[in-house]
Amino acid sequence: MEEHHIKLDLANPYLSSLGTKGGSKSEPKNGPVPFKMPPKTAQIRLVSSHPEVYEPCDDSFALVDALLADRTNLLAHDPTICMEVGCGSGYVITSLALMLGREDSGIHYFATDINPHAVRVTCETLDAHGVHAEVICADIATGLESRLEGLVDVLVVNPPYVPTPEDEVGCEGIASAWAGGENGRVVIDRILPIADKLLSENGWLYMVTLAANNPLQICVLMRQKGYASRIVVQRSTEEESLHVIKFWRDAEVLREAKEQVGTSKTTPAVMEYLLSQFPRMSFWRTGGNSSSNS
Ligand SMILES: C[S@@+](CC[C@H](N)C(=O)[O-])C[C@H]1O[C@@H](n2cnc3c(N)ncnc32)[C@H](O)[C@@H]1O
Repeated sequence: MEEHHIKLDLANPYLSSLGTKGGSKSEPKNGPVPFKMPPKTAQIRLVSSHPEVYEPCDDSFALVDALLADRTNLLAHDPTICMEVGCGSGYVITSLALMLGREDSGIHYFATDINPHAVRVTCETLDAHGVHAEVICADIATGLESRLEGLVDVLVVNPPYVPTPEDEVGCEGIASAWAGGENGRVVIDRILPIADKLLSENGWLYMVTLAANNPLQICVLMRQKGYASRIVVQRSTEEESLHVIKFWRDAEVLREAKEQVGTSKTTPAVMEYLLSQFPRMSFWRTGGNSSSNS
């Protein structure tokens, strides 16, 4: 990582907070302060746009913040193939490529979107930042599943998650960016088994969910496929409560899932563990304990 030496500028709130973090009076007052540049993400002014393409929004920022928060783990994870499903403007895949490294670092990036305008806009955003990804117009990963099966090390998804009438799901234009059908789960529930197929043995999935999507139940479903999970970022506004959840294959969870094949029950201990991550969702205790979507 680049390391820079700068003079502490106390008028700059970011730097002044760094400078006072330790609170030590013995720190040199005017000497050079070691300063690590924050990792780069895509610059909004360089993100291309189109009236029919989803602009980076709170959910996009939450997903990038989750990736930033987990960046040290991601770098240690040493991924070879990273992919975004539903890339929209390209803000997220571009940020991921900037924070993990370009193609010459050995990482290959893929992005898909069902909206052809989003494919073009994503290519422009990537170009504007000097990074590259293979961007494909596809329904989730259609056409890539056999090529990438078991090979994707990092999969990121900010899906259409807003509860809407079923007939709005997958329609042409900007509505396909958010229309998620009943409980906002129609596209999410199609993505989960495909993610399971694409992810490598050590693959990680980062997915944005809304409280209305019943993220607890999504964690239960993924647990039945052998994935552990944790919330990386949570954001609540008056209108919505977003979670960015990370899923990864876990040997212990897989063993437990195999033992429970044929039953739809989740053990009370597991349920308690999951509920501890979603304390405000305990009203789903009963609904989340069985699965109708596995
Ligand atoms: C909420 S937007 C997220 C866009 C971008 N990833 C971001 O975070 O700013 C969801 C994106 O998924 C795309 N999408 C919707 N259904 C899809 C599908 N079945 N397959 C691929 N992409 C889809 C939409 O066109 C839209 O660009």
